[in-house]
Amino acid sequence: LIHPVLLCGGSGTRLWPLSRKSFPKQFVQLVGEESLFQSTARRLSAPGFAAPALVTASDFRFIVLEQLAAVEIGAAEVLIEPTVKNTAPAVCAAALSLHDRAPGALMLVVPSDHVIPDATHFRETIPAALPAARDGQIVTFGVRPDRAETGYGWLALSRAPDPDFSATPQKLKSFVEKPDPATAEALLAGGMHLWNSGIFLFSTTTILAAFQTHAPEVLALTRAALQDAQPDLGFTRLAPDPWEDLTNISIDYAVMEQAQNMTVVPYDGAWSDLGDWQAVWRNEAADGAGVVTMGPSVPLDCTDTLLHATHARQELVGIGLDNIIAVAMPDAVLVAHKDRAQDVKEAVAQMKARG
Ligand code: GDD
Ligand code: MG
Repeated sequence: LIHPVLLCGGSGTRLWPLSRKSFPKQFVQLVGEESLFQSTARRLSAPGFAAPALVTASDFRFIVLEQLAAVEIGAAEVLIEPTVKNTAPAVCAAALSLHDRAPGALMLVVPSDHVIPDATHFRETIPAALPAARDGQIVTFGVRPDRAETGYGWLALSRAPDPDFSATPQKLKSFVEKPDPATAEALLAGGMHLWNSGIFLFSTTTILAAFQTHAPEVLALTRAALQDAQPDLGFTRLAPDPWEDLTNISIDYAVMEQAQNMTVVPYDGAWSDLGDWQAVWRNEAADGAGVVTMGPSVPLDCTDTLLHATHARQELVGIGLDNIIAVAMPDAVLVAHKDRAQDVKEAVAQMKARG
């Protein structure tokens, strides 16, 4: 049995204004009929998988239950983080808790902001990772890169992938999280790197040993926060006292960049992290001029542009635009150069500082 752990406590600031502090992107119906979080839960609701454990923030605890109920999936556990500390503590807490219930169990860490259209193919790829995961490896699923993306982790291969990009596991040489643009260009040109999908398979024993070696403080504080956790209406509320002392760090920086026992399994299906508006534009079907419209929007002589009106009665018109992202909501509007989509995060930080 594989135990999915759904990470759904992120704030998704780069997708402002659709993604808000109180209702971030993973819960929004951004593409398709359901939220990204719901599609993620559904993708792993299949024979061979245990009920998912969720790790999220206090503010989202009722949203996750409501959205799961709507797709008729029950959670094995809902861990509540007192404050946002990024993915390393979240994964660590889930591993400790699962290890208590099922020592050495196999755990599949899944972000809840991905679009994976072929769920069956994705599930069918996982067995290729099982032998390595049972053998003490941290397995990540690697995606073939097609651009010099600086927002992802890059996986250095020891040998070129099979010509058909089949799911043949291989030892990872190294892991580079979020390279600068020049490095990303070089990694893409070299052809010996894959993108880290952010989906990991390992046993609880393996990942806890990795925390012990590479991030002992994260392990100690998280363990203390779980020991003093308060059960609360079916949620497990991690204790704020030790939790506050945790540094904000992602699993990629805390563990994956350091670990030696890493294996990669190539995943050849479509995969996308809807991390920013450029990714949404890329993910949606554009017309011949590269224009994507969502909601009641009218593009006139536009190219490579996204117009997204979220409100049925609020028209959005773009004229002569090239390479622009425009998102109109009743209470907020974003207009940005498409190449600057990453910087929405900075704008949100400024609004937050202003109060
Ligand atoms: N519970 C919890 N708590 N979840 C969190 C937190 C947190 O503090 N922070 C982020 N998450 C969730 C997000 O909601 C998302 O589902 C997932 O963890 C990954 O976080 P992101 O913030 O989206 O990470 P990223 O996209 O910048 O980078 C990661 O994913 C890339 C691929 O999508 C890394 O693993 C990269 O190496 C990878 O390429
Ligand atoms: Mg992401």
